[in-house]
Amino acid sequence: MAGGLDPGAGICVRRERSTAIAAKSSSDSLPLKIFFHERRGSLFCESVSLASLAQAHQTPLYVYSASAIRAQVRAFETALAGVDHLTCYAVKASSNLALLKLVADAGCGFDIVSGGELYRVRKAGAGAAPIVYSGVGKSEREIAEALRAGVLQFNVESEAELRILDAVAARARRRARVALRVNPEVDARTHRYVATGLNTSKFGIPMRRARAAYALAQSLPHLEVVGVDCHIGSQLTMLAPLAEALARVRRLVVELRERGVNVRTVDVGGGLGIAYRTSDATPSLERYAEIIRQAFGDLGVRIILEPGRLFVGNAAVLLTRVLLTKQGAARRFCVVDAAMNDLLRPALYDAIHSIIPVIRSEKPTRRYDVVGPVCESADFLALGRDLPEPQPGDLLAIGGAGAYGFSMASNYNSRPRAAEVLVDGKRASLVRRRETYADLTRGE
Ligand code: LLP
Repeated sequence: MAGGLDPGAGICVRRERSTAIAAKSSSDSLPLKIFFHERRGSLFCESVSLASLAQAHQTPLYVYSASAIRAQVRAFETALAGVDHLTCYAVKASSNLALLKLVADAGCGFDIVSGGELYRVRKAGAGAAPIVYSGVGKSEREIAEALRAGVLQFNVESEAELRILDAVAARARRRARVALRVNPEVDARTHRYVATGLNTSKFGIPMRRARAAYALAQSLPHLEVVGVDCHIGSQLTMLAPLAEALARVRRLVVELRERGVNVRTVDVGGGLGIAYRTSDATPSLERYAEIIRQAFGDLGVRIILEPGRLFVGNAAVLLTRVLLTKQGAARRFCVVDAAMNDLLRPALYDAIHSIIPVIRSEKPTRRYDVVGPVCESADFLALGRDLPEPQPGDLLAIGGAGAYGFSMASNYNSRPRAAEVLVDGKRASLVRRRETYADLTRGE
């Protein structure tokens, strides 16, 4: 576990007196403006001080930078220029209505995995944007809703799902456009909980059954086969496994076409990793685009991409206040008011997020486990982290909190979920109010 005060690319803070610093992040060749920075010893998101936001909205508090998200979408689109493609933001990464609207305004469609996500996309006023519907288990109700909404394509993950989709489409008197998600059986070399291309994974149809599954799909009258889909995992830091997977998908596309299957779209999933620490290596967007061009450039297919983390991961911090510090038998603890229910990634994936004092401190540095109030030993936000001696009431910013942060939050320990603020230049909007105790028992 990393020690030391690593400002990390997760917040991309530079202790410099600059408002927006061009730096290399997420892509090694596209400069990304840094939207979290320090002014006179105090951290800002764009033009708004984080301390003032904590004062106005209390903590724990998620703070997103709209400009950071827009810049990240732009960098992605620039890299893919010349590729016939459709970018469908993976809603699960962060699904606040304001963020969905922002991403839709930036020209993206959506990748959804539930009826709830479909509801959100429509509620955000982005229902006209193209939607692909992924996921290993879609209920009949969800399928019917998606058919009514006219989703662009269903990414189907099993023969059983093909039959269910055909039956629901028949009842709805519609034809469902389908791509089959194939499992290319490559090791994405990422955390085992977010690797999806292994032969032990529940996801997709094994490559060796793909031809038969396509034959089945073509025989079902209420399905229209339009494409092939794959997604080998998330937080990919190396592109070689993806290149291997896409080479296998290419071979399948060529073979299917020889068999008369009209493959028009290839969905390459999401998964591009981001730098949570300055030392993290991240894949180059240019190389990523090149791999896609190499695999499919000559086939005349439309590429669908499903980035989630890349667009929002480093565009937010989670603000938390120090409650107290305490000395255990073997370790020193900094107990804060955010917990695993607010940010689950450290507990679930041993994820490392940068942690920085919001107000610069000259106090001596000591090593702490930064933990929340939840009654679980897994409730930590960082282990063995060097911090300038925190005092009760001090504010800390946890970096890289934009993806799978709030979207994985729960009410465990009956903790109301945090508020979310979206900063755009000088403007800060409360885009989700803090939950109340009454919210906790609503519906009981
Ligand atoms: N498409 C499909 C079919 C997916 O399953 C996922 C993520 C994505 C796209 C978006 O992947 P991204 O570009 O964000 O890597 N909670 C975990 C990540 C789970 C990812 C699940 N699927 C985490 O916090 O690391």
